[in-house]
Amino acid sequence: MVVERMKDGMDLTCDPAARWWDRETDADLVCLAVHDETPDIRTFTFAGAQGQSFALEAGQYFTFDVPLESGEGAATEPRCYSLSSSALRPRTIAVSVKRVPGGRVSNRLHEALRVGDTIRAMGPSGAFTLPRPLPEKLLLLSAGSGITPMIAMARTLADAAARTDVVFFHAARSLADFAFAADLQALARANPRFRVIFLPEDGSGGHFGPVGRISAELLGALVPDLAARTVLCCGPAPFMAAARAIGVAAGVPQAAWLEESFDLAPVESTVDDAPAKTGFSATFSRQNRTITVGADQTLLSAARAQGVVLPSSCANGLCGTCKARLVSGQVAMAHNGGIRQREIDAGFILPCCARPLTDVVIER
Ligand code: FES
Repeated sequence: MVVERMKDGMDLTCDPAARWWDRETDADLVCLAVHDETPDIRTFTFAGAQGQSFALEAGQYFTFDVPLESGEGAATEPRCYSLSSSALRPRTIAVSVKRVPGGRVSNRLHEALRVGDTIRAMGPSGAFTLPRPLPEKLLLLSAGSGITPMIAMARTLADAAARTDVVFFHAARSLADFAFAADLQALARANPRFRVIFLPEDGSGGHFGPVGRISAELLGALVPDLAARTVLCCGPAPFMAAARAIGVAAGVPQAAWLEESFDLAPVESTVDDAPAKTGFSATFSRQNRTITVGADQTLLSAARAQGVVLPSSCANGLCGTCKARLVSGQVAMAHNGGIRQREIDAGFILPCCARPLTDVVIER
């Protein structure tokens, strides 16, 4: 269902002198269209507010500064969302956002972001992209909202008229949760080398294919040449762990198994999980909480262990979701591109990959 679409979305001419979106600079996107994919996944389509074109790779994501209230100067929270649009349509980007029970930020986007609104964003980021050169055979294997980078890859492969043999395998709760179903079926109709397999846990609602959870028997039966495929896998951690075990047992080489996860509870060293008794103090000024952070702990893992809630997504210094201002003190930070040097110079840190070197105060 299309919720809203801008009347004069954008200039339809192809301007060879069009400016490119600068991935090193936060800038405004303008929302051109909003539509529902499933009862809880909504797609937002954006253009650069200055008409910029985007240089992208399928599988990448943008980090959005999501306003938590209305009006000028509203508090924002960063969140990264994978692109669901083709990387080969550079004038617009789309993200498909799932409502999360109790999730303030995604739910806020659903409720408040309207056609014509602008939103600050940075990107694209992320290294979970289509392998180059393209392998002969791919398996795009996803569950839940892990489908988003996969649909971007499928659309990009279609736009490139790629000769790769693709199996698109998606697991979800029920038929109603199968996002992009019509588009995927259209891609399959247009290309005999593109096959879609949908695996709902709940078989009601008119689904005539396989039902249940991913298993070696099921995947082996549906994708008998699994070991000959390069696998891109994205979804909740338990799904990815189960899928990986099946892949290893089936003989998929390690180098041919690529993963992405934006789980809210990423796997971390168990060393970090216990509340520390000795270490530096970390004060989270907005929550008026002070905790002790051990020598082996990141600020995020110590906060989690002691019940301080911080926004986070990748927990690996990649996405920028946890970015916060360091009010005082010093940290050692080993990030993976989720923060820019000028932000570090302005006093921001990523608590997921920062260990205190002194007592610290953080604006969170
Ligand atoms: S949670 Fe992704 S950079 Fe910190």
